[in-house]
Amino acid sequence: MLVLTVRWKKALKAVYVIMLSRISAFQLARPGLGWMEASTKRISWSLTRKAFFPTTPTAAKAGMDPTTHSAGNPDGQTSTGTSQAPASVTSSTRRRRRPAGSGASKASRDFVGMAKGTDTGQYPSFSADNFVQAASGLPTTSPEDPVFTVLGIETSCDDTGVAVVRSDGVILGEALASQYKIHEQWGGVVPGLARDAHASVIDSMVEEALKKAGMASVAEVGAVGVTVGPGLEICLRVGTETAKALATTFHKPFVAVHHLEAHCLMARFGQPLDSREPKEEATGTSASSPIPPQARFPFLALLVSGGHCMLLECWGVGRYRTLGGTLDDALGEAYDKAARLLKIGTGAAGGPAMERLAREGDPTAVVLPVPMRGKKNLNFSYAGLKNAFRMAVTRLKEALNLGEEEDFDPKTKADLAASFQHVAIQHLEERLTLAMKESESRGVHTLAVVGGVASNQAIRARLQVLCEKRSLARRLEKEQERIWDEASSENKGGGTMEVEAPLPHWELVVPPPRLCTDNGVMVAWAAIEKLRLGYSDVVEGRDVHARWPFASWQNST
Ligand code: KG4
Ligand code: ZN
Repeated sequence: MLVLTVRWKKALKAVYVIMLSRISAFQLARPGLGWMEASTKRISWSLTRKAFFPTTPTAAKAGMDPTTHSAGNPDGQTSTGTSQAPASVTSSTRRRRRPAGSGASKASRDFVGMAKGTDTGQYPSFSADNFVQAASGLPTTSPEDPVFTVLGIETSCDDTGVAVVRSDGVILGEALASQYKIHEQWGGVVPGLARDAHASVIDSMVEEALKKAGMASVAEVGAVGVTVGPGLEICLRVGTETAKALATTFHKPFVAVHHLEAHCLMARFGQPLDSREPKEEATGTSASSPIPPQARFPFLALLVSGGHCMLLECWGVGRYRTLGGTLDDALGEAYDKAARLLKIGTGAAGGPAMERLAREGDPTAVVLPVPMRGKKNLNFSYAGLKNAFRMAVTRLKEALNLGEEEDFDPKTKADLAASFQHVAIQHLEERLTLAMKESESRGVHTLAVVGGVASNQAIRARLQVLCEKRSLARRLEKEQERIWDEASSENKGGGTMEVEAPLPHWELVVPPPRLCTDNGVMVAWAAIEKLRLGYSDVVEGRDVHARWPFASWQNST
């Protein structure tokens, strides 16, 4: 009799599971873990760059040469900017942004001299108590006013971004120089030209950010942070040498920042140190932006940019588990290439142009294959969609008797853009559905979308719906389980009913659009997050990493 009851229950449970899978339309298989490396391209030659020293009294006093401001070529000559033909064009796709943001000035705190931390990647444990006097030369702040400022520098690709950010998430000053115009004619980022452009504007960007922050010099900031990788080696070196020189000259703690970590941590931008409420002022929250801008650990991060497409579980600063990455192209790269085919924008301008055009089109007009449909892993692949899109464009031109150089009418063009975007997002939704199931079994219920492509409004809206759907499906699953438990306890002759806590809802967190693409704020913020943990780096011997896999932290759960 007992055996029969158990079998009956199992059979009913199986029917329920099948029904539920239809209701929720989510796949039930548990995906495996995949490991992906950053796919940033390495430049084969390295640059011996003269150290940069600012024209400050301190620099002069220290006997430094204040005239060596710009990066040199490998042969030691000072660069002439855009005069040379490019030796190579990277396939990296990049964005363009305008300088933005400023705020009230804030006197910096005193620091305990230069940082003595090591860059072993080990983060000391943190509590609010050990913040005040951290071991590695941290700000000597008081618990009543634990605020310090950081100068952040970003030069990993084709944006020179500098910002002064306060540790409570207020942007005091920001400057950004895009190289879009320089690379436009080459159809991609030319490393040598990018390096020269960084070198020619880096001083003025630092000056502008400081000026907007109401600061006379770097002496007034608390610490200096810089992207040291991954990225274009010769470009990374411009920012890194500048930051090292500034930290040394002004005796500031120095923080080496991983570009992808900086993108991910922007999901936490403005995160308060303690239980204080997040500041609206800091994060650009407004009534028109219902998506909360701040994620708390742990969260699932979808990192979508021109060079990366990754799924990561973020358990703490420096504690990341890579769930999947792209097998070929990144999403931003696919957007940019599709835009080029439609002749609506080159380089990183392609993504935003595609988004604008797609608004006018019918997403079902052109049928394109959804990548990796039916595959149960957490990786992405956009090369197939890119090729299918190219073939669709060619076929349509043939059908409409259009020559190679002739353009589509605006409606057809918009339909093509909308169809591409629709399928590109479908791929994200399908991978994310699997990842969310995987992560929620470990107690993760926040999805953060970061990187340049996260500024896309259509993606934000569809992933918001995805979070709601997944929350609903989970509620249904739990409700059915409860009914089953009730039925089985009745069969056993009753029992006490447990009152369950309400189920966590999947929450979507996306940084404000202008902070999704590369900028100095994200570097300053990543440095702030690390400094709060007592982590900083030694300047001496610090080099850049063109390739720098995003370390996975195995024991995160
Ligand atoms: O994060 P990011 O500034 O640079 C990298 O680290 O790669 O991302 C740049 C990428 C470009 O491929 C650009 O086309 C894409 O982000 N992007 C967009 C949008 N805004 C930027 N893609 C789609 N829709 C957008 N609105
Ligand atoms: Zn980036």
